[in-house]
Amino acid sequence: MAPYIGTATSRIDGIAKVTGAAKYAAEFNVPGLLHGSVVTSTIAKGRITRLDTSAAMRVKGVIDVLTHENRPPMADNDQAYKDDVAPPGSPFRPLYDDKIKFNLQPIALVVAETSEVARFAASLVTVEYEEVAHVTDIFAARDAAVPIKPPASPVGFTPPKARGQPNRALARAAVRHEGEYYVPIEHHNPMELYGATVIHESDGKLTVYDKTQGVQNVQRYLCGVFGMKPEGVRVLSPFVGGAFGSGLRPQFEAVLAVLAARALERSVRVVLTRPQMYALGYRPAMVQRIALGADADGTLDAIAHDAVTATSQFEEYFRQETGWSGLLYKCANAKYEHKLARLDLPTSCDMRAPSAPTALFALESAMDELAVALELDPLELRLRCYSERDQNHDRPFSSKALRECYRQGAEAFGWNKRNGAPRSMRDGSELVGWGMATGIWEALQMPITVRIALTANGSAEVACATSDIGTGTYTIMAQVAADMLGLPLENISIKLGDSTLPNSPVEGGSWIAASVSNGIATTVAAVRNELLELAKKVPNSPLANAAPDEVKLADGMIVDERDGSRSVSIADAMRHGGVERIEQEETTNPTADDSRARNTHSAVFAEVKIDEEIGVIRVTRVVSAIAGGRVLNTKTASSQILGSVVWGIGMALHEETLIDHKLGRVMNANIAEYHVPVNADVHDIKVIFVHEHDDSNPLGVKGLGEIGIIGVAPAIANAVYHATGKRVRDLPITLDKLHP
Ligand code: MOS
Repeated sequence: MAPYIGTATSRIDGIAKVTGAAKYAAEFNVPGLLHGSVVTSTIAKGRITRLDTSAAMRVKGVIDVLTHENRPPMADNDQAYKDDVAPPGSPFRPLYDDKIKFNLQPIALVVAETSEVARFAASLVTVEYEEVAHVTDIFAARDAAVPIKPPASPVGFTPPKARGQPNRALARAAVRHEGEYYVPIEHHNPMELYGATVIHESDGKLTVYDKTQGVQNVQRYLCGVFGMKPEGVRVLSPFVGGAFGSGLRPQFEAVLAVLAARALERSVRVVLTRPQMYALGYRPAMVQRIALGADADGTLDAIAHDAVTATSQFEEYFRQETGWSGLLYKCANAKYEHKLARLDLPTSCDMRAPSAPTALFALESAMDELAVALELDPLELRLRCYSERDQNHDRPFSSKALRECYRQGAEAFGWNKRNGAPRSMRDGSELVGWGMATGIWEALQMPITVRIALTANGSAEVACATSDIGTGTYTIMAQVAADMLGLPLENISIKLGDSTLPNSPVEGGSWIAASVSNGIATTVAAVRNELLELAKKVPNSPLANAAPDEVKLADGMIVDERDGSRSVSIADAMRHGGVERIEQEETTNPTADDSRARNTHSAVFAEVKIDEEIGVIRVTRVVSAIAGGRVLNTKTASSQILGSVVWGIGMALHEETLIDHKLGRVMNANIAEYHVPVNADVHDIKVIFVHEHDDSNPLGVKGLGEIGIIGVAPAIANAVYHATGKRVRDLPITLDKLHP
């Protein structure tokens, strides 16, 4: 179609990032900037009975210590603290009162002239508590867990309705598998620490540089919490060093920095320490029971999926944990139950592909176990229960090239050379295991507004308040705009991550690529129409009779699509019209078409090699075949999937937030002890994008930010079983679990 869309275009912000020119929230400086250091709770539940800040106040360079006792006023109602993506419940209010709801809760902010002084002085704040009993262990809370009931959820995350006669189907099944699966709490651990720099402008307005996935969400939230007028606070986040969902909701660093800036009428920065980032939310621990029933020929006949996930005592965070099961495979009988276990922890939150990697770890492990019971190749089992419809809602998919993912993935991996018997494959002293799993995610599009300003010299500025959380949004926006405006990529500049720009939802749910690219298309059409009007006024205009949908913009020209020789240059059209600049702003509201399910899919194949003496597991090969609609940029898209696969390796083998349940405190709140994959853990990863045409939005874009992690952990777990004959149903698969 065009020179940029669908190509491996390098990031337009790449040079700025590698040279350090790209500035992150905690890197914006102003003279007289003060630094805040957060003091956190050492108990999990109770109240503060005494807070002594006198020693901290005596340290030279300390300006103030803010606590719930001396802070400026904050809103006193839940509604004020509800951000755009808040779950049901009563949001946490930082530094609000004496109540302690979780360990590591912020309870004071020491503000000083330097960050070192602030941090030292923070260590001198002494606190006395009145403790009450807490529970942080999901296994201790699961019996008291309560079912999710509609209409608690804003977007239909409640479990789908049961269908058929699941109990009877399970009872009569020729082959059954039933198992319990566990995924622990995991934390996001982005490289960039959460930080906010609040600049107290001379007119009293605040400019807030915050690490966030949604500047307008943070802006609205701050206005709610502090009763500020929208024009009094501007939130910016031009670059984000990873967030993965932890930055969808406003976090407390922004509240604390604004609190201090308002109290002191000074500019203030607050940066969290790595351990403090463990108070920001997490992927909820999940205990799942899956029961599958099949006919002897491998036809899936019954699915029962029950889940208990962790949330806080004050909010009910959940996603579509169980519904994926009945969506993915053809199965006439299905039932679901999802309960929430309330823990004395911060509220759980979105983490890359919220609910799907955990749910599919259970489902895809169970499918592998069923295949073993059926003595069937695990890929063959998937093909036998391949579903052409979304059975949860009895509707077709807008597109679903999963079969092609299975085919191309299996071929690239060499799956047909697999010997199905466990422990049957070796490489020298190592056991070799091959496993596979399926992934599914949503392909959403959200309302978005895009402004385009085109100047007569053929350069354009494209503006939208979306973030670029590292996914490559700057680049795809420039590619789409360049192609549609018919201009070179270098002539496009992108403005994003600023609350004063046209409206955008938070960047999450894999929906920004589809939303912003189609949003650009809408605004380009308005620009084109205005250009055509101008072009018609050119003397003897070759476009005098052309209708808007008959012309396109290409090579700096307005061109009649029916006859390429009929064209007017943008420069001429604007010159004759006497305009230097064209500006259009349009909102794109995706049509609410619920008649089709919109999903991305993947097939993941993994090879592990396991040293039997030591138990070390190496993930030596992964092939991930993705059906995700049109790929706007093959380079950044591949990077998304590569990063996702790496994270899937972490989920399978390394990641686990360990809590000392006696203290209710995270024990490994650092990335030395919370293990994530390092280079030595990452070997050969191959990404395949299968062709998939989708017409649910004009550009056929589905989004690729999240599909890549789903299915990776179960593919690895299934490979570990194949290598060793040992089934591990609780993540991560550490050495001790292979050697009981
Ligand atoms: Mo994503 S977990 O919606 O940033």
